[in-house]
Amino acid sequence: MHAEAEEAAAAGCLLLCLALCGGAAETGAQAAESQWRAVDVILDCFLAMDGGHRGAFASPANKERALLVLKQVPVPEDSSLEGFTDFQGDTVAQDDPRVVFEASVDQVQIPQAEALLHADCSDAEVTCEISRYVLQAKQEAPAEEATWFISNVQVSGGGPSVSMVMKTLGDAKSGASWHPTLKLPLSPQGTVRTTVEFQVTTQTQSLTASLGSSVSLHCGFSMAPGLDLISVDWRQQHQGRGQQVYSWTSGKDQAKRQGATLDPDQLHMARNASLTLPGLTVKDEGVHICQITTSRYQAQQIIQLNIQASPKVQLSLISRALPPTLVCHIVGYYPLNVAVTWTREEPGGAPRQVSGASFSNLRQSLAGTFAISSSLVAEPGPAGATYTCQVIHSSLEEPLAASTWVPPSEQRTSGFLIASSLFLLALLFLGLQRWQAQRDLPRP
Ligand SMILES: *[C@@H]1O[C@H](CO)[C@@H](O)[C@H](O)[C@H]1NC(C)=O
Repeated sequence: MHAEAEEAAAAGCLLLCLALCGGAAETGAQAAESQWRAVDVILDCFLAMDGGHRGAFASPANKERALLVLKQVPVPEDSSLEGFTDFQGDTVAQDDPRVVFEASVDQVQIPQAEALLHADCSDAEVTCEISRYVLQAKQEAPAEEATWFISNVQVSGGGPSVSMVMKTLGDAKSGASWHPTLKLPLSPQGTVRTTVEFQVTTQTQSLTASLGSSVSLHCGFSMAPGLDLISVDWRQQHQGRGQQVYSWTSGKDQAKRQGATLDPDQLHMARNASLTLPGLTVKDEGVHICQITTSRYQAQQIIQLNIQASPKVQLSLISRALPPTLVCHIVGYYPLNVAVTWTREEPGGAPRQVSGASFSNLRQSLAGTFAISSSLVAEPGPAGATYTCQVIHSSLEEPLAASTWVPPSEQRTSGFLIASSLFLLALLFLGLQRWQAQRDLPRP
């Protein structure tokens, strides 16, 4: 959370965060056999004031601070929840102008709620943005007096993300007050009461997989009783181009990308629309969008997929060249950026970095991986030296290195020098002779 946000956060949230961090480490271990407990999850949000369109971004000027209270979300019981207090109407100070959205989650499951609760403890930030959600004309129930909002809640660092469609609950009883700008009836506590009717979620907003491996892009959803699943669409966007990867509509599925599959049992039983992509290529890299359409609502999640391949490093000494040259071949890596450093170590000495290396042209294989060579003129000195080429790449946890011993240069160099000088002299001598012979020829 931002310092600013933290300051302004309701006292309840601060209490909650502090209480939760103590036992956060035990959560995983205990979750399996533990019981569930319902807690209020309080999130600091921005409310886009005139975001009439779904997916439209509101400019900062049109954003207002707001609080979102997810009421009574079941999370695994653990010691960190001791002393935890639920949201009270008076948690928000009287002079706090923020709109408070209360959202009941009785009709849907929010499996990512626990991650939202514990985000602060793992130094992650939670961002939450609420905007108006406009039903498509044909989906609108004519008699219904309600307003819809969509909340996009994301945990930083590629963590989970959830988008929830919230419907306001009729609070327009006598004596209810109205929110002046939202034009909505408020509960006696001054909150906007809503119920979540649909949510789409992912466990990871970004992930990295190895070239050639298989990956499952997670996307799940939950919808209120009475709603039907209409379609699941997976699209990919990369460098400005978009394309369909997979679609499922009323039982018919179509894989545009070869091998892309979605498990129909998982889809129907577990509301799990995860997409499996086998045999990853560099073309799979980019943003993948999972869009779920129900009989009434539509929402999506965006997952960034990065592909990587580790380089192979080979070092060779071209000793017949003069001066002796070292070539470090770095082959088969992806993405593009690599850093190469050279060190030289004399017997009994410490390794020292050397500069002056030059790079070959970059080459790209049909599979999309890159190859490059770095060359360095060796100066082994009278005792010889060990040269090391070290490669740093995002696919490697540790730098990859290759070393070779370059024998002392002196004798070989001087021997070679004498030999080549003699050779040059001989050439000169021969040339001179010819030239003289030609000059002495009698002219016709
Ligand atoms: C969702 O389904 C995929 C297979 O399509 C599976 O690998 C994954 O574990 C499932 N995720 C959950 C949370 O059930």
